[in-house]
Amino acid sequence: MEGTTNNHEIERVPNHVAIIMDGNGRWALSRGLPRIAGHRAGTDNLRRVMEGCGELGIKYLTLYAFSTENWGRPEEEVRGLMGILEDVIDSELAELNREGVQLRHIGILERLDPILREKVIHAVELTKNNNKLILNIAFNYGGRDEIVHAIRNIIEDQIAPNDVTDELVSRYLFTSGVPDPDLVIRTSGELRISNFLIWQAAYAEWYFTPVYWPDFDKTELRKAVEEYSRRERRYGLVMTPHA
Ligand code: IPE
Ligand code: IPE
Ligand code: MG
Repeated sequence: MEGTTNNHEIERVPNHVAIIMDGNGRWALSRGLPRIAGHRAGTDNLRRVMEGCGELGIKYLTLYAFSTENWGRPEEEVRGLMGILEDVIDSELAELNREGVQLRHIGILERLDPILREKVIHAVELTKNNNKLILNIAFNYGGRDEIVHAIRNIIEDQIAPNDVTDELVSRYLFTSGVPDPDLVIRTSGELRISNFLIWQAAYAEWYFTPVYWPDFDKTELRKAVEEYSRRERRYGLVMTPHA
């Protein structure tokens, strides 16, 4: 039933939701705060959204936290974003581990400060056997970067041209082993992909909302999932005849 609030009334819950968490800067600006305050508010929102995923039965969540293009922002903002990731690991890792969250990183760690890099590696290692929620953090992530990285490794491994299949390429991506996203959400009203999961989202359903990321709460998540549940995924085939 549409417009209702109970879980069981959502017919089809996406297995994997990916989110372009956008609008932190504008959220802050609209309150007369510095941009970094928006990033902090956006980070505080993660717990609410993760709880929402648990309640809805979403198994995989991928969050776009820092793109390869975001390095071009003012140094102070970049430093602030790095600091936030470090603070989140320091303050939340033990609890996330207790809750059975498996943390994964997608992107390239090399460019990060060695201390932060080690913290990410430790977090991934510590939580690798958890399976309540698989949480992929896209940090220093770019879809093109990921594909270039995959091509290089395929060449290095001397894979024969005929063996390069759709499946093989998927295995060489940072998301190897993770099913493709069913639903991609972008907050803040922007209508673009911004280099996010360009291979994996080939057949994802998209949901755009004007709500800024710090305000995207459980209710907003539910609205997105309800909308997803009403879509018909056709994958290039013909429509299912309705009774
Ligand atoms: C998204 O919020 C967070 C990151 C890209 C790190 P923005 O910082 O892009 O916020 P707006 O788009 O400027 O409002
Ligand atoms: C995309 O948002 C990247 C993240 C949310 C991490 P941006 O704000 O960087 O994207 P553009 O610049 O609007 O395309
Ligand atoms: Mg933005």
